[in-house]
Amino acid sequence: MHKELIELRVNGRRHELAVDPSELLLDVLRRDLQLTGSKRGCDDSSCGACTVLVDGVTTLSCTMLALSAATNGPVTPEITTVEGVADHGALAAIQKAYGDWGGAQCGYCTPGFMITVKALLARNPDPSEEDIRHALSGNLCRCTGYNQMYQAIRAAIAAERQAP
Ligand code: FES
Ligand code: FES
Repeated sequence: MHKELIELRVNGRRHELAVDPSELLLDVLRRDLQLTGSKRGCDDSSCGACTVLVDGVTTLSCTMLALSAATNGPVTPEITTVEGVADHGALAAIQKAYGDWGGAQCGYCTPGFMITVKALLARNPDPSEEDIRHALSGNLCRCTGYNQMYQAIRAAIAAERQAP
């Protein structure tokens, strides 16, 4: 099988690896880099469990080729997975709030939600309820614990607002 040598920058670290050009970013993250936080829920762009950030933009890693996220000439996209949400080992506000409010049931959807919340707060630190619901409309939870999850997300946003 033909493999290409690529370089990925994930959560601030560079990785060189040989991949089949048809491999999806999700598989390379999970299998080759052992970053198993991103989940495969549907494989057809409808659940959001595989969401990562590519240069700050929410991206479904189940539909992006690893090759497309790799260094290309002078361009090196920065990929952020849920493993990169914590701040130097300290829980991010969204992680703490999920714990405080019981935001996760089985937790399968949680990484995707956390990444989407991170992207939302980066572009809008003071989102309205409508903004939150709109931003999260592509993330599904099959356990349907949306009430606690939204409480956690609101608490995280409030904590971020109060942060120095
Ligand atoms: S696994 Fe990617 S959107 Fe569901
Ligand atoms: S907590 Fe189980 S899928 Fe969301």
